[in-house]
Amino acid sequence: MPQPAVLTGLGAYLPPRRVSNEELADRFDTTDEWITSRTGIRTRRWADPGISTSDLAVEAGHRALKSAGLVPEPGAVDLVVLATTTPDHPCPATAPDVAARLGLGAPGAFDISAVCSGFLYALDTASNAILAGRARSVLVIGAETYSTILNPQDRTTSVIFGDGAGAAVLTAGEEGQTGAFQGFDLGSDGQQKDLICIPAGGSRQRSQGTAPAPGDEFFTMRGREVFLSAVQRMTESSQSLLDRLGWSTDSVGHLVGHQANSRILRAVAEQLGVPAERAVVNLDQVGNTSAASIPLALADAAADGRLVPGERLLLTAFGGGLTWGSAALTWPDIVPA
Ligand code: COA
Repeated sequence: MPQPAVLTGLGAYLPPRRVSNEELADRFDTTDEWITSRTGIRTRRWADPGISTSDLAVEAGHRALKSAGLVPEPGAVDLVVLATTTPDHPCPATAPDVAARLGLGAPGAFDISAVCSGFLYALDTASNAILAGRARSVLVIGAETYSTILNPQDRTTSVIFGDGAGAAVLTAGEEGQTGAFQGFDLGSDGQQKDLICIPAGGSRQRSQGTAPAPGDEFFTMRGREVFLSAVQRMTESSQSLLDRLGWSTDSVGHLVGHQANSRILRAVAEQLGVPAERAVVNLDQVGNTSAASIPLALADAAADGRLVPGERLLLTAFGGGLTWGSAALTWPDIVPA
């Protein structure tokens, strides 16, 4: 009998340095009023110089293992799946290094590149490995240091993104167990790949044999078009998963959307018919942390007692690629670390 993946541990880590809107207003032609009213973000964390994505991932991974009651030792998990837009290096992947530094022995370890949808893609991959009987326990991490790819000349992206890491442990469990994943929906549209892009540093630019244009090594985004697509795709993906599972919107305890912009989250909740108080929002404190966004929002909502064991959760995300995805689960009786 296939065993479903169950969420058995959750961990979150934010680098200590807070960067307020006021601090950014000193550096860029912007104001706290613009940032707060257009995005909902008030502050975010940026890693100190010398700190990279693996450093945050190790911290979050450690906490998730602790939350799951697992000792970080060889054999504790069979797979480590790390979603990130900001790997330590273009090659090799960051996950094997994170697995080694956590003392996990020699598990399968690889990165997933789906930008802000990465954590949901990673959860789906982990869940499938468990359903197929290929893994009993998987550590799934979403970790980002966006501060390393932001263009210091670009006020729009520089005020939105923050650094952080979140991690989950998925374990083979029983049908009907609280914490069991019920289904996933994933999608992409590569025709819109230019809406969110780092133009230089990959084979497309290197194959041209010329130096990259100034600024092309940084993250770029066409914000307004991304905004409209994000609302449409997260709403459609969520609705399609709800329909497939036969879940009514009323039966969903909380909607945990990718923390991109409070106006996006409000629009998705409205279009799905989820009351605003059941949509989890923590971007005011952390900004858009891309692949770390969903686990950080979950940890935040769990820590203050908003999530009740057994309630239905709908997760949804959208990001570069374009990519999007949704996941459904019941909330387990766990204490995030
Ligand atoms: N401070 C002040 N003004 C700013 C600014 C800033 N930080 N950033 C942009 N502006 C200006 C623009 O230059 C523009 O000025 P103009 O009208 O004189 O040309 C004006 O604000 C409106 O810009 P626009 O990009 O149309 O604003 P917007 O209402 O769409 O908000 C975003 C911009 C980026 C906040 C919004 O589009 C967004 O959140 N998009 C989704 C981003 C996202 O979440 N991406 C992650 C992947 S899901």
